Amino acid sequence: MPSRPLMNNEFYKTGIEGVDDLLNNGIPSGSAILIEGGPGSGKTLFCLQVGQNMCRAGHKVLYMSFEEREERLREHMRSFGFDPVQYEKKGLLCIKRFNALDIARSVEALLSEAKKELLIDVQPVLIPGDFKPDLILVDSLTSISSAFSGEEYRFRIYMEQLFRYLEKHNISSLLIRETPVPTHIGGYQGDEKGAAISFLSDGIIAIYNVLYENGSRGRGLEIFKLRGENFKRKLVELEIVDKKGVVVNSKKPLLGKYRLT
Ligand SMILES: Nc1ncnc2c1ncn2[C@@H]1O[C@H](COP(=O)(O)OP(=O)(O)OP(=O)(O)O)[C@@H](O)[C@H]1O
Ligand SMILES: [Mg+2]
Repeated sequence: MPSRPLMNNEFYKTGIEGVDDLLNNGIPSGSAILIEGGPGSGKTLFCLQVGQNMCRAGHKVLYMSFEEREERLREHMRSFGFDPVQYEKKGLLCIKRFNALDIARSVEALLSEAKKELLIDVQPVLIPGDFKPDLILVDSLTSISSAFSGEEYRFRIYMEQLFRYLEKHNISSLLIRETPVPTHIGGYQGDEKGAAISFLSDGIIAIYNVLYENGSRGRGLEIFKLRGENFKRKLVELEIVDKKGVVVNSKKPLLGKYRLT
């Protein structure tokens, strides 16, 4: 299958029906979208599914994992009826695991070479040289950030360079961020690292763990921000369904008494 590059002025669909309903036009190509949520809320599965759908549409997808092993991610995809290896062979999918500490060390080396100037070439520490993706999925910024602990300014430089690189090459991205406090409460107030990332991003999709008053648990999703685009502001139900994966129902708001966690 020949690849079909995403054009500058194009919008892409996530392929998750309920999310596409909330988005109206889709996501503008080239934008950097944060996928935020608490532990186990479904961030990885969400990104894997968008990746699958983009591959099916002929776009090139790079999954950068700082957490789970490649084979485990392939297993997730298979359990949702997708054959990742077929797309890897066609050159449409690249799943690669990185070590966040290696990235932190490389950035440090580049910075000292550049005599602490802000401009460094992130390409070698970022993207496998021979693969030009339309969409990059980063799982997760939180893992990268923890490798820079105590080196906030280096992390910030790295993030700035990363966002600039993606923008320059019109690469769309979904960047996972684990949030200790639900996004709607603004868990990152006062956190410099987090604030810088939110500011640099073009959009935020938040996934919530939900605790109902009767003790049962569920999940919710809302589009929190999308620069320059119209979207439906609505908190709706997200489910993780066996063999299907993430299912979002844009017509199903969360009912009853609940708390987002
Ligand atoms: N086949 C399945 N059927 C139902 N639920 C599943 C299935 N596979 C995974 N899950 C659920 O999906 C959740 C994990 O989703 P995912 O790994 O995407 O979360 P995450 O937000 O990336 O988590 P983490 O913070 O650990 O990275 C698990 O908690 C599990 O409950
Ligand atoms: Mg995950």
